[in-house]
Amino acid sequence: MTDPAVIAHRGYAGIEPENTVAAAVAAADHKGTAMIEIDVQPAACGTPVVFHDERLEGTRDGRPVTDASGFVRETSLETLESLSVLGTDESIPTLSALLEAVPETVGINVELKNPGTTELRVGESLPEDDRERRREVWQPFVAHVLEDCETFDGELLFSSFCEGALAALRDAADYAAAPLVWDDLEAGVEIARRYDCEAIHPPRNAIAGTALASEPYYGLSTSEPEIDVVEVAHEEGRAVNVWTVDSWLQFDELAAASVDGIVADYPGLEARTGAGLAR
Ligand code: G3P
Ligand code: MG
Repeated sequence: MTDPAVIAHRGYAGIEPENTVAAAVAAADHKGTAMIEIDVQPAACGTPVVFHDERLEGTRDGRPVTDASGFVRETSLETLESLSVLGTDESIPTLSALLEAVPETVGINVELKNPGTTELRVGESLPEDDRERRREVWQPFVAHVLEDCETFDGELLFSSFCEGALAALRDAADYAAAPLVWDDLEAGVEIARRYDCEAIHPPRNAIAGTALASEPYYGLSTSEPEIDVVEVAHEEGRAVNVWTVDSWLQFDELAAASVDGIVADYPGLEARTGAGLAR
């Protein structure tokens, strides 16, 4: 049993308009928050903005995420900053604006979501011949993100489903880095080793020996994981931060499996952890 760090997913998307300044500021205010996870990608001018989807017209529980349509990467910064997120007064913020609003007592987990291209190669451990090209694809955007992060004195952790993003990050700075695992746990472990990452970020059903491993969740299959990623990562000195939980039961299950951090949609899910619950 561990006492995992709580990482607020998109600024606790379960209770706030995701990836907005208001969400980040409110997340920082919750006692248990160690870090705030945000997704970044470029506006048309290349400026990093905080937004999850590559297009503006998606929905959450049937409600439009914004009042516009089109690719984020083809939309002007002025337009993005004037949109309403989930019908609230919050707009899509620049990374700079969000970092400026957040106290440095909490860390930020910057998820490098998209460098402004269509072809992403998500969750893939790249063949050697492709690695340099993929690093180059990400390099300008990652450089811009790093520039925007310079003034933030809190802890920073960069994660990505794309190996190219981590390659570009490692090339440019010494910040902590973590591959996000999609449907291939072994690929994630390989990437973590290749870039000597400080952490690995598997999905919540990737943790061996937990009840969650047999539950469907995004890319990973529901069979018992072949790799005990907690054991392997800890042996290699890496932290394991798991995404994304929305109940105290999930939090408790993962804490019992000794993970180091848990990305959560709601604050307070850690409240019952370790309270002698029967399993
Ligand atoms: O970083 C964890 C989690 O945010 C990854 O999935 O799709 O919510 O960005 P997603
Ligand atoms: Mg994310």
